[in-house]
Amino acid sequence: MNIQQRFNLIFLATFFLGAVAIASISFIFERQQIQAEVMSQARLMLESALAIRSYTVQQVRPAISAQSSDQFFPQTVPSFAAHETFSILHQKYPLYSYREAVLNPTNPRSRATAWEVEIIQRFSADPNIGELTGHHRTEQSDALYLAHPIQITDESCLSCHSTADAAPKAMIQLYGSSNGFGWKMGEVVGAQIVSVPMNFAEEKAQRSLGILVISLFSMSILIYLFFNWLLRRFVLRPLAQLTTAADAISLGQKPTAEVVATGSGEIGEIAAAIKRLQQSFERAMELLTENEGGTKAGPHTDAARTEKDRL
Ligand code: HEC
Repeated sequence: MNIQQRFNLIFLATFFLGAVAIASISFIFERQQIQAEVMSQARLMLESALAIRSYTVQQVRPAISAQSSDQFFPQTVPSFAAHETFSILHQKYPLYSYREAVLNPTNPRSRATAWEVEIIQRFSADPNIGELTGHHRTEQSDALYLAHPIQITDESCLSCHSTADAAPKAMIQLYGSSNGFGWKMGEVVGAQIVSVPMNFAEEKAQRSLGILVISLFSMSILIYLFFNWLLRRFVLRPLAQLTTAADAISLGQKPTAEVVATGSGEIGEIAAAIKRLQQSFERAMELLTENEGGTKAGPHTDAARTEKDRL
């Protein structure tokens, strides 16, 4: 294996390990960022639901109740208002949902499903939890949910949710007397649950990872080419020239190209050493020729001179 192959092997191994480390760290970081983003969307939805509920209690209910006291308008019920508003949003964004899931609801559409029951039970076991988050997989998407408990902390709720007798007659006519009663003070009756899809978030994280891998790959190709050019230009070519020169000197010939001993570093030192070797060799040849010239005369001396001149 020559120097270039060795360097390239080191380069490829380093690049591969580095790229895997960078890609993994970025993917984890990106995923966390996106989860935080999705969670803030869910929080915003939950806050919107609370705002709709407050608006209904503070403005819609007094306005409608003032006009008619013997009729029951579900529009005055905060839960109804929030549910209806988010149904409209759900039509446009089917993967986003807001639910007031209740174990024993007045309106059957709010009955908690199996996974919602689990959340409500966790809140019932410890009402201090306050908030639960997690993943929920549906047929269409992998969703992130944010849930808050619905706990009866206000006596006024019981006027419609304790017994059918206590509830307004007009309400019973509309909803019947079998659902949504028997709620007690302090009881966790259900949970507000916002679901936000994670699919887009996952796709976004994967897209970012793809872009990162392509960028790393393109950059590594450029670095690889540049690195190999540098290696050839500043290491391999000078080394090859020095090897040829050293070869020639070792055979008693004059190197075809002048050995230039400039520059610092290992290559410069080798060049200087070869240059010194060449000079010593020439000096030795000169001495040899002079000695031979002193003892013998004739064509041999001329040949040595010619050799000296050539050097
Ligand atoms: C005037 C009667 C009335 C009062 C007071 C009332 N509710 Fe309701 N509530 C209803 C009706 C009617 C519905 C069904 C609305 C619908 O069709 O979605 C309902 C629905 C709900 C729901 C959705 C699940 C379900 O049962 O359908 C929750 C949660 C809820 N109410 C909680 C409360 C809380 C908490 C209070 C007290 C702060 C309260 N309600 C006070 C009448 C009332």
